[in-house]
Amino acid sequence: MIIFNSIEQLKSHLISIRDQKKIIGFVPTMGALHAGHISLVNKAKAACDVVFCSIFVNPTQFNDLSDLDKYPRTVENDCLMLEKADCDIVFVPEVMEMYTERELALKRQKVEDKSWTEGKEVDFGLLEKVMEGAHRPGHFNGVAQVVSKLFRIVQPQKAYFGQKDFQQLAIIKSMVAQLKLPIEIVPCAILREPNGLAMSSRNERLTTNERDIASIISKTLFKIKEQYNSSPISELKANAEARILKEPSIMLEYLEIVDAETLQPLNDLKKVKNAVACIAVKIGEVRLIDNVVLY
Ligand code: PAJ
Repeated sequence: MIIFNSIEQLKSHLISIRDQKKIIGFVPTMGALHAGHISLVNKAKAACDVVFCSIFVNPTQFNDLSDLDKYPRTVENDCLMLEKADCDIVFVPEVMEMYTERELALKRQKVEDKSWTEGKEVDFGLLEKVMEGAHRPGHFNGVAQVVSKLFRIVQPQKAYFGQKDFQQLAIIKSMVAQLKLPIEIVPCAILREPNGLAMSSRNERLTTNERDIASIISKTLFKIKEQYNSSPISELKANAEARILKEPSIMLEYLEIVDAETLQPLNDLKKVKNAVACIAVKIGEVRLIDNVVLY
């Protein structure tokens, strides 16, 4: 496994890989890797000649500076895990390798920087107006900004994204379609802890007790799935919200049952087969998201 910090050195290595007509599978991450991330690497390994993983805690997708500061950074351990998973290339850039001073200044001033579209028309429309987009202003612009930069550097044939971040996956698919990038976006299933809690780098910040309590999040979503075909959406939502609100240490940010394609909220009059139940909560200072597809 080769580790690169510099784009220049990485680029010349990638040229020789492309000359050999090898299929590159790309797994972008922010590190603090767990089995969920490794499942993406395994899926890439099974379908590609070269598996490329990036580890970069992307400042432009954080709307809360203390969340960025507290984001766990465990690069050495991450590299050990990737080596064990037979990953071929790891890219671990510094912030100044990925961003110009100007781009970082715009972020500090909370100005939405659209320069990553390189003048092309990209509009996520209603996809970014709901759920994470509504609660984390600028978040998806930052995600699209860094992923488009990484795509330009790596130029993979396939890129792997977890359904854990269901809305992010929809945004990336939309970005690739609008920019007409020749990259196949491969969705990957959510990996969960034995108690059902979706694996997340942020789980590291929960106490053992909080992790136990957090199992109610996925239990609630799976209950919605169980009853989706037999109960009205208003009732499913009300019961689910009541279940979460009963737990005093969990603060509910949103719970939505949405169309899996458009991500727009469904109601009793508009119920579709392709639906997904999405939730965001806070336990103490730790923000967690999860979802369960209902079809
Ligand atoms: P990060 O949160 O590190 O996640 C990297 C990838 O792992 C994402 O595609 C995410 O959906 C997936 N993932 C996380 N937890 C998972 C789980 N329990 N099961 C399956 N897949 C899981 O998502 C990001 O980083 C960033 O936004 C990024 C795309 C790297 C851009 O900065």
